[in-house]
Amino acid sequence: MTADSDFLYLDYAATTPLDPQVAQLMQEVHTSAFANAGSTHRAGRRSAAVVGRAAVQLGALLQADPDCFLWTSGATESNNLAIAGAAKIRAHRGKHLVTMRTEHKAVVDVFIALEKQGFEISWLTPDANGHVSSEDFEAALREDTQLASIMHINNETGVVQDIAALGAICREHDVLFHVDGAQSVGKVHMDLDTLPVDLLSLTAHKFYGPSGIGALYIADGVHIEPLMFGGGQQRRLRPGSLPVDLIAGLGAAAEVAGNRIDKDLEKFTTLREALWRGIQDVGGLQINGSPDSGYPGILNVSVDDVEGESLLLALEPLCVAAGSACNSQSQEPSYVLRALGRSDFEAQSAVRFSLGRPTTRADIDIAAATYRNAVRKLRDMAPERVA
Ligand SMILES: Cc1ncc(COP(=O)(O)O)c(C=O)c1O
Repeated sequence: MTADSDFLYLDYAATTPLDPQVAQLMQEVHTSAFANAGSTHRAGRRSAAVVGRAAVQLGALLQADPDCFLWTSGATESNNLAIAGAAKIRAHRGKHLVTMRTEHKAVVDVFIALEKQGFEISWLTPDANGHVSSEDFEAALREDTQLASIMHINNETGVVQDIAALGAICREHDVLFHVDGAQSVGKVHMDLDTLPVDLLSLTAHKFYGPSGIGALYIADGVHIEPLMFGGGQQRRLRPGSLPVDLIAGLGAAAEVAGNRIDKDLEKFTTLREALWRGIQDVGGLQINGSPDSGYPGILNVSVDDVEGESLLLALEPLCVAAGSACNSQSQEPSYVLRALGRSDFEAQSAVRFSLGRPTTRADIDIAAATYRNAVRKLRDMAPERVA
C-alpha cells in the first residue's frame, strides 16, 4: 500500500497499471504520429513506421515474424476472430471443435455461439489440478475436428497448460491450434518459432501496456475469415483505422516485458511462497490449481467455513478477486473452480491474489495478516452459518 493510495492492489491478473516508460512514449507518439497510418503522405508514413516498429517489438518478444500480427481491441476480440474466423473458413471440411471447460468467457462464449450455428464442441474437463492431459486431448480429436483452443495460463488459477505438447498433437492430426495467451504473453517466455501454435491471442493491459489494444498472431499459411467488414486495413481481416498510440504502447510494453520476465518470475515465486506461508495458520486452506507448478504471479485459495462474499468485504482494503475479475459481478461460484471438482461452497470462498511488478514483500505481509484476521473474524462471528 503506497502513501498516496487507500488500497492494496493485488489484482494484476485483471489488469496492470501502465508502465511509466510506455506512458511517456505514447504521449510522444500522440503528438508526433497522429496521422492515419493508412495515409500515403509523409505524415501517414511516419505513423505506419511507428506501427511497424511495434510489430517488430512484439515479434521480438515472441520470436515471431512481425508480419504475422493483426491489431485488435484486446484478447476478447482476438479470441472471437481466431476461433470463429478459423471455424467458419474450415467449416466445409468439418464442424467439430475442441476446447476446455476452464477457458475464459471470451473463449467459452464464442464456442457456445458456434454451437448454436451448428458446430459440435467437445468440452474437456481438467484434472483436479487444472490440467488437461495429452491423452485426453488427443482422444477428443476426430476426423472432422478443425480447431482446438486451449488457454496457456488460466486467469483464475494460474494453471499452465503444456502448449508445446498439445500443439504437437494438433499438428499430427491437421487440426488448427489456437491459444489464448492473455495471461501469458509478456509474463513467461514464449517462442513461436518453435511452439506449434497457429493462432495466439494477447492483450496489452495484462503486461503494463494500454487498455483497448491487443493482437492476434496468425502463423504463416493459416487462414481465417474476417468478422468485420469495412476498409481494407490489415489484409481485410480486421478493418478500421489503426490506433497508432495504443499500438506503440503495446510494442513498448512488449519490449519492457521481454527484458524483465526472468526477474519478475523470480520475484513472484518468492512472494507467492511468502504469501502462502503467511496465511497457513488459519487452517482449512486449499490451493486451487497446481500447488507446485503454475504461474507464480497467481495464488488462488479456498478456505473452510467462510463465505466468499463476506470474505471479500472483510479483506478491504485489499483489492483481490473472487474467481475471475471478469466474472465478479456474478454471484455464481466460479465455473473454472467447479470444473476442477471444487464444491459450490469451496468455489465461493476462493480468493485470487495476483502479484505485479509494484508488489513488495511488505505488501505481502500486510495481505497475509489481513487475510488471517478476516478469516478468523468471520469464523468467530458466524459459526452457525457453516454446515
Ligand atoms: C485468459 C483471458 N482471456 C481473455 C481475456 C480478455 O481480455 P480483454 O479484456 O483484454 O479483451 C482475459 C481478461 O481478463 C483473460 O484473462
